[in-house]
Amino acid sequence: MTVWVGTSWKMNKSLAESRDYARGLLAGLATREAGMVQPFVIPPATAIAAVAEILAEDGRVLLGAQNAHWEDSGAWTGELSVPQVADAGARMVEIGHSERREHFGETDETARRKVAATLRHDLIPLLCIGEPTGVKDAGGSTDFILEQAARALDGLGEEQLARVMIAYEPIWAIGEHGRPATVDELEKPFAALGQEYGGRIAGLLYGGSVGLDNAAALLGIQHVDGLFVGRTAWDLKGYLRLIDIAAGR
Ligand code: PGA
Repeated sequence: MTVWVGTSWKMNKSLAESRDYARGLLAGLATREAGMVQPFVIPPATAIAAVAEILAEDGRVLLGAQNAHWEDSGAWTGELSVPQVADAGARMVEIGHSERREHFGETDETARRKVAATLRHDLIPLLCIGEPTGVKDAGGSTDFILEQAARALDGLGEEQLARVMIAYEPIWAIGEHGRPATVDELEKPFAALGQEYGGRIAGLLYGGSVGLDNAAALLGIQHVDGLFVGRTAWDLKGYLRLIDIAAGR
């Protein structure tokens, strides 16, 4: 069974830093067995093409984009389409991260359109879902995330669903103001997601304050197929260490 370990760099890294990371990643992977781990890296859009060129030498690392529009082209100033990010070398599109929902007005409906566009062009949609603190405190986490996923995946057939990845990232656990979720807190939501999507999608990931200290425990939760990581993996050493943890080394 594949264990996914991916990172989005968010709005970080220059071109030179991105190239260094990609080269270092290939060098680090060259000394490791392929095993079951599938690494993926999601740089800022400015660096996708440069990173793609380097990663192409190996082919083991999947490359993604942090966002893409649902239309293929047109008068959408500031946006990038799925064909454009694919042209730059992306094979995956991150969709509906909570930061995009909070600051850029993304909704379940825009997520649905982006998932459909990504599938139409044969890229992998990585749909992010997660509840805010208030919903968690009221005991509504599971209903909230099931609803978010259902809305964004509405209308897909089983063959399309099989190409979708979902990252459950509770908003209260993300970023420097987040608090790491405990295994106890995650068991129920993953049981519910597993019941709905287990065996039907390409992978179900956990994200939010993943660190070197909690990665193994998080990977041990039933229905967790991998980790989606921010801060800990922005540093290449941290990312390689997470890959080792996922490989059981
Ligand atoms: P973090 O970010 O690992 O820095 O908490 C996770 C995410 O936003 O996907």
